[in-house]
Amino acid sequence: MVGSVTTATDSNHRAREDAAARDVASPLGDRRDRFLLPERVIYLDGNSLGALPRAVPDRLAQAVTEEWGAGLISSWNSADWINLARRVAQKVGPIIGVPGSDVHVGDSTSVTLFKTMVAACRLRPGRTVVAIEPSTFPTNGYVASAVARLLGCELRWCDPADPTAALDEDVAVLALTHVDFRTGAMFDMGAVTGAAHDAGALMLWDLCHSAGAVPVELAEHGVDFAVGCSYKYLNGGPGSPAFVYVAPEHQTDLDQPITGWMGHAHPFDMDRDYAPAAGVGRMASGTHPVLALSALDAALDVFDGVDHHALRTASLSLTDYFIELVDARLGGQLEVVTPREHARRGSQVSLRHDQAYGVVQALIDRGVVGDFRTPDLARFGFAPMYVRHVDVYDAVEQLVEVMELEEYGRASYAVRNAVT
Ligand SMILES: Cc1ncc(COP(=O)(O)O)c(C=O)c1O
Repeated sequence: MVGSVTTATDSNHRAREDAAARDVASPLGDRRDRFLLPERVIYLDGNSLGALPRAVPDRLAQAVTEEWGAGLISSWNSADWINLARRVAQKVGPIIGVPGSDVHVGDSTSVTLFKTMVAACRLRPGRTVVAIEPSTFPTNGYVASAVARLLGCELRWCDPADPTAALDEDVAVLALTHVDFRTGAMFDMGAVTGAAHDAGALMLWDLCHSAGAVPVELAEHGVDFAVGCSYKYLNGGPGSPAFVYVAPEHQTDLDQPITGWMGHAHPFDMDRDYAPAAGVGRMASGTHPVLALSALDAALDVFDGVDHHALRTASLSLTDYFIELVDARLGGQLEVVTPREHARRGSQVSLRHDQAYGVVQALIDRGVVGDFRTPDLARFGFAPMYVRHVDVYDAVEQLVEVMELEEYGRASYAVRNAVT
């Protein structure tokens, strides 16, 4: 009889083997090998800062030592720094479903949002409303509010459950974040863009939490503008520059507000008067960040040959598995706030708990890195390129122990705020 008793350890072992088998079958194969990940860390925060691609350190060393150190200023030509932003844009384009020639890369997301929102509003003279959702990332609201003040427009907060209800003949631009940074909820890009167009408005999407993890088909959906950062799922490194897409039909009349020399048609003519460059190049303002772009250039090669639908399949498999394990083992204690419907889910899962800050800190102490979003969310990102099902399994094991041992009581957000 003893031989037929199944222990918890046996079934845990089998469950972990099942998880490992899912990894072997992953449509992304061995992409994880292209990253340098610390041992004994389960990294579930790639939705905040992506992991380091293996090719980046050498590329950066080359940019610093050979190109800057030895080549000095001649590297603008000999290392083709002058076209670096354009070359990087060529790699970003396919990831968001558009030609790279319609993409510009260079400033921070916030600055890019500002330039794009102003330019978009100027394409709809006579319309006086900029509409955004109140649940958006704070910078988007701050920027939209500044744009509205600058242009004498109204800032309209729309209902995230139905943002299209805010559309009328006054709305110049509807600016939404494709995947919500708190909950991981995803808008239906095609339906919302279509509704904005039906109302005569232009559509601007923030892709910070989707580019590189969720298939994005901007051209297919007729999107007007999109902006996104490159340091999350695109793994460009801390503070790496943002990208902007401008639909071809808007490029000729595009009037962005920071008309610097690098967006000039002939920057080295040093003309007194501004004449915009042709195409999306006019979104440039100043000199592009060569070192950051060099890192991003190397990082984006990780996407070479990756089928976007395979990426999505892998991402959904990871988030489904995490939700399934949390439901089964912690259902009464942690609320899954991320939508369960695939069509409405990005590549993260957020769990609600009134001591979410302590939960996240206790997990970090155990080597499982997620993050906390005020007031009560523990957020876990599943970057499909390098997160495995065994990581999901092990992370939930740690989470179960944290909850059983009530380790979350040790760290409080209020205390953290008081001491920092
Ligand atoms: C959705 C979203 N938009 C904008 C930003 C701001 O980006 P940046 O700091 O590059 O300006 C972030 C940052 O995390 C974000 O998550």
